[in-house]
Parts: sequence; C-alpha cells; structure tokens
Amino acid sequence: MKIIFLGAPGAGKGTQAEIVSERLGIPTISTGAIIREAIKSGTEMGLEASRYTTAGKLVPDEVVIGIIRERLAKPDCEGGYILDGFPRTVPQAEALDGMGISLDAVVSIEVADETIARRMSGRRVCDKCGASYHLEFIPPKDGKNCDKCGTELTIRRDDAPEVVLERLRVYHETTEPLKDFYSDKGILKLVYGCEKIEDTTKLTLEALGV
Ligand code: AP5
Repeated sequence: MKIIFLGAPGAGKGTQAEIVSERLGIPTISTGAIIREAIKSGTEMGLEASRYTTAGKLVPDEVVIGIIRERLAKPDCEGGYILDGFPRTVPQAEALDGMGISLDAVVSIEVADETIARRMSGRRVCDKCGASYHLEFIPPKDGKNCDKCGTELTIRRDDAPEVVLERLRVYHETTEPLKDFYSDKGILKLVYGCEKIEDTTKLTLEALGV
C-alpha cells in the first residue's frame, strides 16, 4: 500500500505511522526525520533547512521534493510505503502526482489545536536512534533515558511553544488545503485523533481496511 499521513504538527502522524508500518511491513518515510538527520550531520542541505525548521516554517518545496524523489527510488519502497509529513503543500502533492505514484489512501489525523500544545510540551526524543516518547502518554521506563539505546532524551528545538504556534498557523494555511485536494480524488480518510494512542490506531486501521 502507498499511504500518506496528514495532520497538524503533533497530531500523531509519526506515532501511528510507526505502528501501521510494522503491521503492514512497509517503510515509513518521514521528511521531518530525514531533515533532522541532515541537520545533525551538518550537511549543506541540513544547514539550510535548520533556518526554516527552527522558525516553524516549511523547508522550500524543491528541497523536499528532491529528498522524496531520491528516497522513493530505493528498493525498500517497491512494496509500498507510508509518507509521514509529505506532501505538505499543493505543489508537493502535484510533484508526487507527476512521479506517477498511485496512492491507496490519505489519512488525516484530526486533533484540536488546544490538544496539540499539551502533546508537544510532553514530547521527548532520542537524538541517537530517533525514538519518540511522551512524559505522560508514552513515558520512558526510567523517566529520562531512551528505552531502546539508553541515550538521554531531549526536547525537539521546534517544540518550543512559540514555534509550535507558528507550525500550527502554517499547517492551517498551507497544508490543510490538501484535504480538499485528496478528497476530490476520493482517497481522503478522516481519523479522529483520540486521547489514547491505541484508539487512534484502531480507527486508522479501520479507515485503511486492514
Ligand atoms: P515533522 O517532523 O514532520 O513535524 P510535524 O509534522 O510538525 O509533526 P511532528 O513530528 O511534530 O508530530 P507528529 O504528528 O508526527 O506527532 P507525534 O506522533 O510525534 O517536520 C518538522 C519540520 O520539518 C517541519 O516543521 C518543516 O519545517 C520541515 N518539513 C518536514 N516535512 C516537510 C515538507 N514536506 N515540506 C516542507 N517542510 C517540511 O506525536 C506528538 C507527541 O504526542 C508525541 O510525544 C507522542 O508520543 C504524543 N502522542 C501521539 N499520539 C497521541 C495520542 N493519541 N494521545 C496522546 N499523545 C499522543
């Protein structure tokens, strides 16, 4: 299957993508994760991208489309994939169409802005292996280190409250119109982002019919 996860920052796209990806045996491609990796490695693209991500802005379309084009050409994508965080603009969606990709479903996880702020303030991430936690909802076993690799967890730079507000503004202005774009194609599935992660997973799997 070829699936897109849409949704506001912190709606739970990454969390659900990881679960569904394991269940269906297909990779998740997260443009946010690829960009963070490039920033960590200090590549030219990473240096340019960090100017946008730390301000809560979108990285320019041509950069992100290039990342996706390259990633989708890898052999592990042959059996399908989940796109987490791409596309985020109409030109990005059109570029995906232009690559001749036929999508099975676009899942939009719907969460109110007030809930997002609470989720972001509790998120902690592992800079080494990329695992994501929440102090209240998915706490690390010892409260501060990664369960998988033992590294001390950190707060994402773009989770600062003022940056979250800007990311939400950008989402509503630029990314939310994609719901109409995919609704017109008949493949949009709206999923209510519940308080419990497993409840959202149940609704997501039902929406996907798997
Ligand atoms: P990206 O990493 O994609 O950030 P995002 O879309 O803002 O999404 P998040 O990763 O913040 O949240 P999520 O929806 O995955 O939620 P999560 O599952 O972690 O992108 C970062 C930046 O890169 C962008 O701002 C942009 O600058 C750039 N970028 C990326 N893609 C781009 C593109 N295509 N074009 C241009 N620029 C691009 O959950 C959040 C927290 O809540 C976690 O702690 C989790 O444990 C918790 N949680 C999840 N579900 C639940 C639940 N049901 N109940 C309670 N807690 C929950």
